[in-house]
Amino acid sequence: MARKVAAGTDDRAIDEPEVRAPCRSRVPVEEDGDMVEQSMWMRKVAADPGHSAWYVERIRGMARAGDDLAGEARMVDAMVPRGARVLDAGCGPGRVGSALAAAGHEVVGVDVDPELIAAAEHDHPGPRWLVGDLAELDLPARGVTEPFDVIVCAGNVLPFLAPSTRGAVLRRFREHLAPQGRVAVGFGAGRGYGFDEFFADAAESGLAVELKLSTWDLRPLAADSEFLVALLSRG
Ligand SMILES: C[S@@+](CC[C@H](N)C(=O)[O-])C[C@H]1O[C@@H](n2cnc3c(N)ncnc32)[C@H](O)[C@@H]1O
Repeated sequence: MARKVAAGTDDRAIDEPEVRAPCRSRVPVEEDGDMVEQSMWMRKVAADPGHSAWYVERIRGMARAGDDLAGEARMVDAMVPRGARVLDAGCGPGRVGSALAAAGHEVVGVDVDPELIAAAEHDHPGPRWLVGDLAELDLPARGVTEPFDVIVCAGNVLPFLAPSTRGAVLRRFREHLAPQGRVAVGFGAGRGYGFDEFFADAAESGLAVELKLSTWDLRPLAADSEFLVALLSRG
């Protein structure tokens, strides 16, 4: 029986901790003349072409089972005015962004996996769901010109980035934020991206860490926390 996801928990149940990315290659992808290292997620998909469909079905199954899939969205909803502009970064099949759209926010979701974006469009029509690598995020070039009140990056997206692109992704987040906007990021320990390393990357990217938590229901971060939820601003 599927484990219930308590509201605002560390969201590991929507991930796949038993499967590690098989880092067989570091194949770059070329877009707009720039080379960026392929994301860990897409390397996993290349090694297992059924992975995206498995993930979509996992989320759909949890929804059918009545699991609480909106803990992150509730926290983000509390951070912003009504009708806010929200970027769901690494949106997958639209779990978080769809809940924020249902709360009345204007949502754009971006994900590198076309199969997950197709599922988001099918399951949650309304928000703008876009295929793209966060390391190359340039939404004005795609007609999305207004900056965001909040960028939510939930569900272990950051450890699934290609390590060489982490700084670029955080810089792109900063560029897409409104002056008073914030980034809400959550990811687990033991996934190859240490919390201190993340804090250093954020500082280098011009993002200030405003709050460090260990869950999406606002429990404080401790030295032994296994999950990080961080709120960042433009500094
Ligand atoms: C575990 S899923 C989480 C999906 C969604 N945020 C959620 O919580 O339901 C990790 C997601 O990160 C996305 N991702 C990884 N690297 C990415 C990148 N470089 N650009 C955009 N999305 C990326 C994957 O495609 C995948 O959808």
